[in-house]
Amino acid sequence: MMEALLGWPPAVLDPMGPYSSPVRTVAWALFGMGALITALVVAALALAWKGPPRWRARLGGEKAIMLLGVALPTVVLTGLLVWGLTLTARLDRPAADGAMRVRVIGEMWWFRVQYLDGDGRLLAEDANELRIPVGRPVALELESADVIHSFWVPQLSGKKDMVPGRTNRLTIQADRPGQFGGVCAEYCGRSHALMGMVVIAQHQPSFERWLAARIAPARRSAPGGEGFTQFVAAGCAACHAIDGTSAKGRAGPNLTNVATRRTLGAGIMPNNRGTLTGWVGDSQSIKPGNRMPSYDRLEPAQLKAITAYLETLK
Ligand code: CUA
Repeated sequence: MMEALLGWPPAVLDPMGPYSSPVRTVAWALFGMGALITALVVAALALAWKGPPRWRARLGGEKAIMLLGVALPTVVLTGLLVWGLTLTARLDRPAADGAMRVRVIGEMWWFRVQYLDGDGRLLAEDANELRIPVGRPVALELESADVIHSFWVPQLSGKKDMVPGRTNRLTIQADRPGQFGGVCAEYCGRSHALMGMVVIAQHQPSFERWLAARIAPARRSAPGGEGFTQFVAAGCAACHAIDGTSAKGRAGPNLTNVATRRTLGAGIMPNNRGTLTGWVGDSQSIKPGNRMPSYDRLEPAQLKAITAYLETLK
């Protein structure tokens, strides 16, 4: 699934916005310079080895060493450094005031996504899926709940670390609608390779409709039903919140709209009845070491009731 999320050609070479296209430019420039220098070195080597005596003498001389061995690398590397720093400074420019704010918190091993209002108050919480409006810069506040992670959605921006105890800022922007895969780009423990997410860019009106529906207060104030009872009885509510119900756990992902998510387990598999049942029943064999225990002690009827209930959360 992760391959599907990051895709081919390498996402870095297929940027979708102003904060990612400079990365492609740098990638091609470094590749081009590298190829050019390799060709020069191979040519010089061939001349020095089997070339005419005049060339062999020249390449062995002090002048050639100072010019090709010292001056050329100094000029090329300094040039690339200055150019790279200039581009990076441009990527680091903060989003304008009034940009949409989202806090993304890295946790072992998933991404907590919090939509904020202009004053930083929490509007809604999601997991491993970030919706943004097309064509607008989105100001991300990157944090960590445990160890160092790194936020990386190659088609929308460069990567930036998520460090415990501090807030790092990163701006992303998508210039066309679509789904863009991301991964944690800093080794963070046993299931680091299974920590992915997806950014969904949609046009402003449909994004606004989605957000308004997502934060509509207490629209499930009467969850009722056997499924929710079993959900609570099994202890799920101790770790998971479902807005508008008595489930207010904070340790795991908020499940208010879990049925609408593209993936389960932080981007590692598609979300359908089979994967959902497998995840609840035995998440430890799918993602070793994650904080959710395997619920293999549940009766089949209980498991079925819980997953059927989760499938209604849209
Ligand atoms: Cu989180 Cu690697």
